[in-house]
Amino acid sequence: MCSLITGGSRGIGFSIAKALAKAGSDIVLMARNKMRLVKAQNDLAGIGRNVRIYPFDMVEVDGIKEIYSKIIDDTGGIDILINNAGGLRRGSAETLSLKDWNFVINLNLSSVFALSQAFAKERIEKEKRGKIINISSVTSEVTRKHIAAYAASKGGIRQLTKSLAVDWAQYHINVNAIGPGYFKTDLTRPLWQDEMFDNWIKKRTPEGRWGSPDELGYAAVFLASPASDFITGQTLYVDGGFLSTMGSVS
Ligand SMILES: NC(=O)c1ccc[n+]([C@@H]2O[C@H](COP(=O)([O-])OP(=O)(O)OC[C@H]3O[C@@H](n4cnc5c(N)ncnc54)[C@H](OP(=O)(O)O)[C@@H]3O)[C@@H](O)[C@H]2O)c1
Repeated sequence: MCSLITGGSRGIGFSIAKALAKAGSDIVLMARNKMRLVKAQNDLAGIGRNVRIYPFDMVEVDGIKEIYSKIIDDTGGIDILINNAGGLRRGSAETLSLKDWNFVINLNLSSVFALSQAFAKERIEKEKRGKIINISSVTSEVTRKHIAAYAASKGGIRQLTKSLAVDWAQYHINVNAIGPGYFKTDLTRPLWQDEMFDNWIKKRTPEGRWGSPDELGYAAVFLASPASDFITGQTLYVDGGFLSTMGSVS
């Protein structure tokens, strides 16, 4: 069993990699920065699974087929694909540049399509099952100011998840998404370091707190395991109840 996690060197991706390794999977991590990848590889070493690293920028969508084919040669095949790498460019919609728009859409949406396609082709050719888990967001359902490209990309992930699930169910490739609420990582640092926002999140989230990235690891293990073989096309929101309420709960 081998799992590939994009953006697996830190944050949510690293927590998912740790959970899958503990559940018995070998691991492949992709991210841009090699030093951080090596650190993640060392941090996972104690679990006892094989961990390989591939420095790669997911914005370079045209290069995904080639790097994936190298990963397949090296590993013999990937069973579980976690499309986690993502990022955002903030800006009000009337001034957001097309460059920033394209960056976010390439990273958060187009790369997910390209890597999922490469994954599925190999699984189909070898007549092997597969699991794809896309990391979306509560912003695939709701949005706020200055994140138009990000919210559009995550809304796209919700529909892409359903479309890939429908196309590939006949090959026993399950495609689901995990939609995190708010978790403390480098991506959200400007938010959790802002006292007003921190207080707002605690009031806005019925559980009254930020999520812990480990909680996403457990959800990923479920969606990667045979326990979820009849679940496909779904987004599992791990959000402390964020999407279930219209506003502040205290
Ligand atoms: N944190 C939250 O509250 C939250 C909520 C909802 C959804 N999400 C989603 O969860 C995913 C992970 O977020 P996170 O909070 O863990 O972010 P993070 O702490 O910023 O970590 C991002 C990871 O992705 C890698 N990465 C970033 N840009 C990349 C690129 N162009 N090519 C390849 N790898 C890249 C980073 O490594 P390098 O920088 O070395 O490339 C790192 O490993 C994202 O899709 C995000 O949208 C997060």
